[in-house]
Amino acid sequence: MSEFNELFQKSIDQPDIFWAEAAEDINWTKKWDKILDTSNPPFYRWFSGAELNTCYNAVDRHVESGRGDQTAIIYDSPVTDTIRKLSYKELQTEVAQFAGALKNQGVEKGDTVIIYMPMIPEAAVAMLACARIGAVHSVVFGGFAASELAIRIDHAQPKVLVTASGAVEGKKIIAYKPLVDSAIEQSDHQPEKCIVFQRKFITSDLQEGRDLDWNELVAACEPAGCVAVSATDPLYILYTSGTTGAPKGVMRDNGGHAVALYWSMKNVYNIDAGDVFWSASDVGWVVGHSYIIYGPLLKGATTIIYEGKPIGTPDAGAFWRVISEHKVKVLFTAPTAFRAIKKMDPTGSFLEKYDMSSFEALYLAGERLDSDTYHWASKLLNTPVIDHWWQTETGWAIVGNCRGIEEMEVKAGSPTLPVPGYDVRVVDDAGVEVPAETEGNIVIKLPLPPGTLVSLWKNEERFISSYMKTFPGYYETSDGGFIDKDGYVFVMGRIDDVINIAGHRLSTGAMEEVLSMHPDVAECAVIGTDDQLKGQLPLGLFVVKAGVDRDPEDIKSELVKMVREKIGPIACLRETSQVERLPKTRSGKILRGTMRSIANGKDYRMPSTIDDPTSLEEITGALGTMGYPKN
Ligand code: COA
Ligand code: AMP
Repeated sequence: MSEFNELFQKSIDQPDIFWAEAAEDINWTKKWDKILDTSNPPFYRWFSGAELNTCYNAVDRHVESGRGDQTAIIYDSPVTDTIRKLSYKELQTEVAQFAGALKNQGVEKGDTVIIYMPMIPEAAVAMLACARIGAVHSVVFGGFAASELAIRIDHAQPKVLVTASGAVEGKKIIAYKPLVDSAIEQSDHQPEKCIVFQRKFITSDLQEGRDLDWNELVAACEPAGCVAVSATDPLYILYTSGTTGAPKGVMRDNGGHAVALYWSMKNVYNIDAGDVFWSASDVGWVVGHSYIIYGPLLKGATTIIYEGKPIGTPDAGAFWRVISEHKVKVLFTAPTAFRAIKKMDPTGSFLEKYDMSSFEALYLAGERLDSDTYHWASKLLNTPVIDHWWQTETGWAIVGNCRGIEEMEVKAGSPTLPVPGYDVRVVDDAGVEVPAETEGNIVIKLPLPPGTLVSLWKNEERFISSYMKTFPGYYETSDGGFIDKDGYVFVMGRIDDVINIAGHRLSTGAMEEVLSMHPDVAECAVIGTDDQLKGQLPLGLFVVKAGVDRDPEDIKSELVKMVREKIGPIACLRETSQVERLPKTRSGKILRGTMRSIANGKDYRMPSTIDDPTSLEEITGALGTMGYPKN
């Protein structure tokens, strides 16, 4: 048996022994009573009875063990022409000060704090400061509109909201504070305080009594120490798209999270303390939580906070510049970023200017890795290109090529093998396991390993109905795919209404909810269509109410504007079309899957339950007029 197989088998057969050994790398203020508490399935709890502080493990202990002068964070911002390095010692000071500031504002263990920040070190400081005092952070991605932020404020009920005056997005300056003000106005729950980090290029007005200046606050307070919390206490809530407009608040605990992320840094990414690891994502996504902030810092590595894009800041050589300037060993990003670089610089000519000798491997995730991008990147970089599959819910890789244990042979189109801890299976709709090479629902046998979601914030029922109910005893991933005869997992895509736009997870259901608010729209459907750059793009189809006789172009631009305002620019809904009717089943269910197949040029079977088969011919004609299928 190979080293990898042996380790994997141990993680499945003896998960408690496997994870107890991994947990030795974490500093606990109190050891666990039970490694895995199975008393209340499907709510499994790792390391129950134990106590620790995540911030201590990610910052203070490195200072104590002699890494104080090592760079913890490199802030590289081509959009503001800034490079700033923070050592672990400096990070400790900043985090302790800001934790003190939060405490002064009445934030206590268990309180929630929303963080709506661009890619600046203060975002990391705010997250770690919450962890330091046992508060629960919920970071909201800056590309979401005020109303999406309001939904999260109402659900998370933060005592304090932390933000910055603005961001630079490519070449645009975006004022954050007006968005925050509007979100607070729209929400029922009112955060008591709003702490604003003023950036040099944009200053925001502060509302007397509610808003506070970050720097003034920090200057006036005492540093706060680390508070021990239970391993099973929540560290953060991260809202992610589900199939409806209400996002799901994925809840992560402290103990399992620290153990799993620390373990993954060496075993999945082959990163040791002192190495430079760069995840080119955003703190607002799970990749940012796990692999810009917590993973690399828990490991004692150097992480990069990059405020820029793969292209245009200033050119398609931006990634190579960062890698060579900061001696990056591993880069983690989404395939879209590489497709964007490939489009601008197909021959990779920018690479010649840079010394890439530090670079060891590229890791990609967030969406399916197409073979063109895989081959292009492999040839250009001449290093391993590792596809790995995971979700906001799991927080770290489910399937990957664990190079830190043993590098496995790559099969293009597959993210390789299940990672230790994950018992991945494929089942049919009745929950029966299917033979190798047969497509079905990808599920994970319970219990999930440490670091995965423990529940949905204030919604245990939805946790069960979304993930645990369809296939009892398994976690439902909502991805379809198959496992081949060698155990390689092939992930074919979502089987629900979640789509991936440029590696960003969005809900077509949420977009439909917005379109249906338009006074002229009788009914609508939003489907994901294939896109060569962003992987998928949403397409809105709508039917107008009887008697509406307006120019469809006017309605279309109103709909695009509404989605931009209600969900945010990141939804990228730019194309809509007015149609006579939508194809439906006899029970009235819109045939979104069939329309998706037509738009993407895929084979489909006429559903036996269709109400009127001619409706499909009509929609095929309408999509054809719009140029679908496009690729
Ligand atoms: N704050 C405010 N607005 C934001 C934002 C943020 N943090 N991030 C994106 N937006 C806006 C963009 O400005 C754009 O607005 P526009 O419609 O006015 O132009 C819109 O949201 C769509 O953004 P995006 O999808 O990023 O498109 P883009 O054309 O600006 O960039 C890529 C295209 C491919 C370069 C970019 O999507 C990219 O870098 N992708 C990599 C993805 C990635 O790292 N994913 C992380 C998951 S691992
Ligand atoms: P998110 O929760 O934003 O990380 O998105 C998770 C979804 O992205 C998964 O359910 C998949 O549909 C998709 N995804 C992530 N990584 C991969 C990958 N390597 N291959 C295929 N799909 C992926």
